[in-house]
Amino acid sequence: MIFELNGKNVSFEAIPSLTLLDLLRNEFGLTSVKKGCDQGECGACTVLLDGMPVNSCLILSPQVEGKRVTTIDGLSENPLMIELRDAFMENGAVQCGFCTPGMLLSSYSLLRDNRNPTEEEVKMAIEGNICRCTGYVKIIEAVLDAAVRIGPD
Ligand code: FES
Ligand code: FES
Repeated sequence: MIFELNGKNVSFEAIPSLTLLDLLRNEFGLTSVKKGCDQGECGACTVLLDGMPVNSCLILSPQVEGKRVTTIDGLSENPLMIELRDAFMENGAVQCGFCTPGMLLSSYSLLRDNRNPTEEEVKMAIEGNICRCTGYVKIIEAVLDAAVRIGPD
């Protein structure tokens, strides 16, 4: 099966029961995609599937055939992601870091479509991403800060 992973076409042998999460981590070495609950509860495994955030532990690998999968690794040079990353660091929104790739991808998806979100919209965008460390306040502040830095489209 073939799909687009971080901008490149890749192929893999289809195993019906293999999740996208395990495919990305085990076959492609993308350990930035975190394995938390493995049950769709924590958001640590968030990736973008055709641009939309999904829990990769809930997607079976054959479902991605012909689709576009983006992990945080594929956005390392993206200006919006760079602003988000810097804002997370400067606002103290990263502690253990386990939730951070998923948080950044959910936040990226929000700011890509909405450059001037309200606090409520930020909360909604990251509601599927659990953070055990920060209490969320600094994360929300970081996303709002990134929105200011990047400015309108
Ligand atoms: S590991 Fe997928 S939602 Fe927790
Ligand atoms: S920074 Fe530790 S889980 Fe969010």
